[in-house]
Amino acid sequence: MTPVQAAPDLRVNLGGIAMKNPVMVASGTFGYGPEYADLVDLNQLGAMVVKGIHLEPTRGNETPRTFETASGLLNAIGLPNPGFDGFVKTYMPFLRQYDVPVIVNIWGRTVDEYAEVARRFNDVDGVHGLEINVSCPNIKEGSALFGTDLDMFRRVVDAVRARTRLPVIPKLAPNVGDIRAFACAAEACGANAISLINSFPALAIDAETRRPELANVTGGLSGPAIKPIALKLVWEAARAVSIPVVGIGGIFNATDAIEFLIAGADAVAIGTANFTHPGTAMETVRGIAEYLDRHGLARVGDLVGTLAA
Ligand SMILES: Cc1cc2nc3c(=O)[nH]c(=O)nc-3n(C[C@H](O)[C@H](O)[C@H](O)COP(=O)(O)O)c2cc1C
Repeated sequence: MTPVQAAPDLRVNLGGIAMKNPVMVASGTFGYGPEYADLVDLNQLGAMVVKGIHLEPTRGNETPRTFETASGLLNAIGLPNPGFDGFVKTYMPFLRQYDVPVIVNIWGRTVDEYAEVARRFNDVDGVHGLEINVSCPNIKEGSALFGTDLDMFRRVVDAVRARTRLPVIPKLAPNVGDIRAFACAAEACGANAISLINSFPALAIDAETRRPELANVTGGLSGPAIKPIALKLVWEAARAVSIPVVGIGGIFNATDAIEFLIAGADAVAIGTANFTHPGTAMETVRGIAEYLDRHGLARVGDLVGTLAA
């Protein structure tokens, strides 16, 4: 009799967040959950990362806010959000119904704002972790970005770490000189995991009008165009730290996700693909299981960081 092969073990522990599989949805591409609940079974996700939350409600940028490029999406949404109170009141009762970890993406315009929004989530039932979006300019100390200035990055992660009991996941910006320095700084500040990459700063121009395609002039590029950049940065960061890594950038199917796992990511997040194909995360979970089975790997962890280089 041929022995029955057990299904591969897809479970991942992301710095204290127990996930049933390694496939998450990326912040800003899946709303706060209800927007996608009629289209996909949210319980099948490894984790859900909600759109960035600030202390107060914000409106975001003028339109046009998005523009489709040859192989990616350019966006300058400007982080519209219902604010901490609005999010907790409107969306948390809905999210608590599901058996899926909720990771809240947070942002601020000063170090104190980041710390304060992190502190407030200590008392919110059903939140499993905080992802820190550092791709925002510091309005108090000039226009330097928290995500590209190593000193400011450290101060934000330190401040958030000091105020929260929840697992902390700084989300790294791709446009830095040495991604390893930011990954190591996050680990040294007590982060439980890191995620990367955020969208890449970019510009699209209408040659006829000689105007930018976005009202904000520049935006962040996401989608297939950034996947090879993201893979390289994930590969570098994962080798530099021992905390778990979430790979993000242009993942549109299981093969893309598997490439990130091979590069060293412990989990992945699907972003832009959710806009064109909401079922991508679920298909990716099935595709990873099928791949592990085909390659005789018992656990998804057996694939992580196996790049033959
Ligand atoms: C429309 C849009 C909104 C986004 N909003 C956020 C956000 O609020 N916070 C954040 O950290 N990242 C945000 N991102 C970045 C994504 O989470 C992700 O890091 C990036 O798009 C790269 O992944 P992708 O190529 O799979 O989309 C947003 C991306 C898009 C396209």
